[in-house]
Amino acid sequence: MVWENVLAKFKELFGDEGEIGVYFAPGRVNMIGEHTDYNGGHVFPCALTIGTYGVARRREDKKLRFYSMNFEQLGVIESSVVGLKPEKEADWTNYPKGVMWAFGEKGMEVTNGMDLLLFGNIPNGSGLSSSASVEVLTGYILRDQYGFEVSNQELALIGQFSENKFNGVNCGIMDQFASVFGKAENLMRLDCRSLQYKYFPWHPKDYRLVLLNSQVKHELANSAYNQRRKSCENVAEALKRRFPGVKSLRDANYDMLDDVKNEVSEEDALRAKYVIGEKYRVMEVCVALEEDDYEEVGRKMFETHHGLSKEYEVSCPELDFLNDVAKSCGVTGSRIMGGGFGGCTINLVSNELYDNFVGTAKQAYKEKFGIEPICIDVVIGDGSRRLC
Ligand code: GLA
Repeated sequence: MVWENVLAKFKELFGDEGEIGVYFAPGRVNMIGEHTDYNGGHVFPCALTIGTYGVARRREDKKLRFYSMNFEQLGVIESSVVGLKPEKEADWTNYPKGVMWAFGEKGMEVTNGMDLLLFGNIPNGSGLSSSASVEVLTGYILRDQYGFEVSNQELALIGQFSENKFNGVNCGIMDQFASVFGKAENLMRLDCRSLQYKYFPWHPKDYRLVLLNSQVKHELANSAYNQRRKSCENVAEALKRRFPGVKSLRDANYDMLDDVKNEVSEEDALRAKYVIGEKYRVMEVCVALEEDDYEEVGRKMFETHHGLSKEYEVSCPELDFLNDVAKSCGVTGSRIMGGGFGGCTINLVSNELYDNFVGTAKQAYKEKFGIEPICIDVVIGDGSRRLC
């Protein structure tokens, strides 16, 4: 059991006295609905069985002692709950600290320190939301051990708030929400405006979902992400001036976009075009799933990839290459998964093509880029929880 090793390490470093809790918060993948969350649209993610394990104990003083089994060379990183602010030297601890700070901002000041040990089994830089899982995990611990009264929805929102305001990435709500609310064997369609969600059972008999991790994470991914968001907001502002009912790109259609295209830059209009197309695709995929039409699901995935690559421009040569290989192997659907600029493609593959596709992709990618993509089978798991 992973968590037993993590607990043993905690006790070795921090002692075994007091009330110690063991927790888990998963990473996520998204079936479709990319870059729609911060436009008030729908997303269609699920939680994974991989994620971040955490062992924690509330302290009586103000001290924070953090240790990650993924960055053992950094040793125990000590600081304090007083005067929390992001610092470069604080490295990964900016994520749990950001959540503590965010609780304070929401009127729940964290006055006691914490011993916290983490272990994550999400591959680094794979775009499977390890940072969201750390945020959700920290929030969960604060609720559980410090007695704060927060709902699950607030846990997700506080995680997002900390990422936006403490760690400087203007992400939407999808990752944190999926990490809190995920349910084994189900995808969830989340309306990112109302935060209403619906589970969709996922057990295709003849297909598998597999991720190919390109093993690249391009510099500037975070700043480019924030720029994309800004482009969407620019177009939404122009639309609002003309159509009073519009609150965000979710409310737009192609004709409306056409009406304001002279008031925004060509680039911003192209970004918005992608978002509008993606809004329809999420709904079309839901209908297709209810009809067990996986071929249609796959077609939409390829369309999303095209949009992300040519209109939203968040792809990179590695991801486009993996997408081309998928196409040439006859895979049902394939696309960039997550924010882009690296990380994984998600592939819907029929059982009989699976071995051939994975083998071909590994070999071709290695020949072209000198490294093998890592293949990760998607196993859908439950949301965050206390394990012991
Ligand atoms: C990242 C963000 C999410 C979402 C996706 C793109 O994962 O954290 O909020 O915007 O990118 O769909």
